[in-house]
Amino acid sequence: MSINILAIESSCDDTSAAIISDGSVLSNIVANQIVHQKYGGVVPEVASRAHQGSIIPVVEAALQEAGLKASELSAIAFTRGPGLIGSLIVGVSFAKAMALSLDLPIIEVNHMRAHVLAHFAEAPYPSFPFLCLTVSGGHTQIVLVRDYFDMEVLGNTLDDAAGEAFDKTGKLLGLNYPAGPIIDNLAKTGKPVFSFPHPKVKDYHFSFSGLKTSILYFLKKSIKNEPDFIQNNLNDICASVQKTIVDILIKELVKAAEHTGIKQIAVAGGVSANSELREVLQQTGKEKAWSTFIPKFEYCTDNAAMIGITAYQKFQKGDFSQQDITPVARWKV
Ligand code: KG4
Ligand code: ZN
Repeated sequence: MSINILAIESSCDDTSAAIISDGSVLSNIVANQIVHQKYGGVVPEVASRAHQGSIIPVVEAALQEAGLKASELSAIAFTRGPGLIGSLIVGVSFAKAMALSLDLPIIEVNHMRAHVLAHFAEAPYPSFPFLCLTVSGGHTQIVLVRDYFDMEVLGNTLDDAAGEAFDKTGKLLGLNYPAGPIIDNLAKTGKPVFSFPHPKVKDYHFSFSGLKTSILYFLKKSIKNEPDFIQNNLNDICASVQKTIVDILIKELVKAAEHTGIKQIAVAGGVSANSELREVLQQTGKEKAWSTFIPKFEYCTDNAAMIGITAYQKFQKGDFSQQDITPVARWKV
């Protein structure tokens, strides 16, 4: 009999449900909450309410696309954290209630581990041990992955995450939220003619708040001399900021690879959708004889398939959660 897992992800501003059957993704439905755009960032209370509105249709769509009935499920998995508590509560409560009504076991999943294990959604898979650069709106980490359940965070961001650096720069430039994909697009027709300083931090660690401040001062100074500076140079500014962020990320990743001797290199999280990061990673990989792993776009950003892939590993170990489980806003890898 197949192991069919319904997985639910609701840690931030995407409501997602997926069906994983014997470790293969049968469906992966994501409802993005565009409502946050007008606020320039995710508003937790609004996110929580939007999850409530979309969770049932998203779960129904996941079952339908997979061609499965709820009665054919073996377990229900959910993101327990880290994330916005009001958002997590919706997914956790829904998963628990549905499991209770169907008499199914539940499986809690750590969102950051799931980003790493998203690499097992589709072949080719990295082999253990591998290094994973996880770059999202909330996290920037270099993780040493020894096994599905044995991960060590080698480096972290000390302040802003890489995605936040893109989003906050976007705000300074008057772009919509989330600005990462917009900057990526604008940078395609720009040149990295402006340079910004790199942070001075310990090996494998990151810091992006100084970059944000230096961009702010750079823009203020430039606008003083040329009031339409942003409009006249938007593509070049985007290309310059993007190059700086990508260079900072790759520099630490190269150090971690050289110091550990690991040549299986993966990238995960929303920012791994960035076209320059993907290109530079592949180029660097060729130079350093790495095997590089970049998931398909739908497995880079927040999605329930990665929750289900992680849960499948836990299911095989019989690692289930109790019904009295509660979400956690902070939870280390
Ligand atoms: O992993 P994710 O979907 O959500 C979490 O933060 O967990 O990541 C979202 C982040 C946002 O900051 C967004 O601006 C960024 O990923 N992002 C990008 C791109 N696509 C999404 N950043 C740069 N280039 C992109 N193409
Ligand atoms: Zn995420």
